[in-house]
Amino acid sequence: MELIQRPRRLRGSDAVRRLCRETRMSPDSLIYPIFVDETLTGVRPIEALPGQNHYGLDSVNLAVEECLAAGVNHCILFGLPAHKDAIGSSAWAEDGVVQQAIRAIKAKYPHFYVITDVCMCEYTDHGHCGILRGHEVDNDQTLDVLAKTALSHVQAGADMVAPSDMMDGRVAAIRAILDEHGYQTTPIMAYSAKYASAFYGPFRAAAGSAPSFGDRKGYQMDPHNRKEALKECALDVEEGADILMVKPALSYLDVVRECADTFDLPLCAYSVSGEYAMIKAAAAAGLIDEYRVMCEAALSVFRAGANMLITYYAKELAQAIQKGDIG
Ligand code: PBG
Repeated sequence: MELIQRPRRLRGSDAVRRLCRETRMSPDSLIYPIFVDETLTGVRPIEALPGQNHYGLDSVNLAVEECLAAGVNHCILFGLPAHKDAIGSSAWAEDGVVQQAIRAIKAKYPHFYVITDVCMCEYTDHGHCGILRGHEVDNDQTLDVLAKTALSHVQAGADMVAPSDMMDGRVAAIRAILDEHGYQTTPIMAYSAKYASAFYGPFRAAAGSAPSFGDRKGYQMDPHNRKEALKECALDVEEGADILMVKPALSYLDVVRECADTFDLPLCAYSVSGEYAMIKAAAAAGLIDEYRVMCEAALSVFRAGANMLITYYAKELAQAIQKGDIG
């Protein structure tokens, strides 16, 4: 057979396959979510997320040490406060759970990069991501509390803030308050295209943040929409975002690709709790090879154009990259 083109030539050995990989990953592009529970002493496994833990303030540095040992140098912090109320006031308390966790980490590991999730849903007694007027989240009143919360995280030592609430105008409000207080150089990672997704189920069990009535469709995006994601990203760029995000990841790879092609800001994707839990459950049932599926799923997000990934598998992926199994 006379074949000039034989693509298999570049698949013939591990060495040539590794040479020709089009997608490269690095542990530097992975971000690990850490859950800190103000009411906890020590470490407690999260039932909804097998292999993940809640950390007490006394042991948050254990989580950091596990990251560092695996080669992961970035985290995103989520807090479970001891006290919730209608306006989520412990979100911006100076001695709030996230603020205390940041100080504990920075006292011991000043170079470990700490991003904080800025949202109200873990702090409100109704579980919505902002301040209610009747049964609706009031956008403009919520901007004030989000801005105060972001500022308090940065004052406690956070390196970057990541608003995940999906209120209109939150990036501008946060940028303004940070600048006013002299934090012009602190970046904002905007959860720009965050969809109203069923894939957040295990997270809400883990963070105690499920809404007590209704759903989040009035502020998070409709999964049917693609152009709306571009609009959300464009607005965040205008408002001063430094990094854009698409969330969830796997069911939204088309959106990841389009945002990567359209905007010149770094793009983050969040491989959310349901994506992780599905792999764990299928592997526990003996249906798939967890390690290989973990690698392939993460790889697909980078191939789609993401520059960084928030994932519950960050530590395992960093090891897989270092071994050369991916990237
Ligand atoms: C807070 C927030 C959520 C997630 C990240 N930040 C939950 C939600 O919007 O209900 C989801 C993360 C995950 O599922 O892993 N608003």
